[in-house]
Amino acid sequence: MSEQDEPTDRPRRTVRAVPGNDDVNTTTDITALILDDHERFRRAFAELDELQASPNATESELSQVWDPLAALLDLHAQAEEEIFYPQLLRRGDDAEEETLDAVGDHNDIRDAVRDAGQRPVASSGWWESVGKARVANDEHMAEEEREALADFRRNSPKELRESLGRGFLRFKEARPNPEDIDSSDRDPEQYVRDEQQAAAGTSAGGDSSLGIGGLRGDH
Ligand SMILES: [Fe+2]
Ligand SMILES: [Fe+2]
Repeated sequence: MSEQDEPTDRPRRTVRAVPGNDDVNTTTDITALILDDHERFRRAFAELDELQASPNATESELSQVWDPLAALLDLHAQAEEEIFYPQLLRRGDDAEEETLDAVGDHNDIRDAVRDAGQRPVASSGWWESVGKARVANDEHMAEEEREALADFRRNSPKELRESLGRGFLRFKEARPNPEDIDSSDRDPEQYVRDEQQAAAGTSAGGDSSLGIGGLRGDH
């Protein structure tokens, strides 16, 4: 490793640089697209393992893996909160608890990513923060896949899942740079209250078109 520290406010590479974006998967089912991102996370963390094991790995090489991974972790959480969880709240069997858990987990992931961004790459503190992000994300993905995604598959038609997936892709494509991403924490209970109110407003307005009329954001 070089002994030179990276500046702590270094620009992150774009999320497009995360490996695994060439998937052959052509479905736009949002539950499958979320799984695709989860696989990208697992592979990027495995790449960091390889670099950690290499005596010749440089800080630049670590940044080339971590920076787009960090950006995608934040963007994925934001996209789920904008596109997926509002619809889960409208349809899921146990949606409120699943959403409270998810937003709280997203905050833990965002906190660790933010912490890593404030430390010199390859320092012990940086590895510690990266490790915290990984643990929080691994635990969250397992729970999200087992509960929220399964709940949504049971309770939403395929055409809605595909429509939401197109919105999920557009939401991410519209934010190619880290500065486009909102990585601020959200209060889980306030989030659920706001989305439940939005859902009530949507149904009061008579929009029954698969429930997607109440979605927020540019999709
Ligand atoms: Fe996820
Ligand atoms: Fe999530």
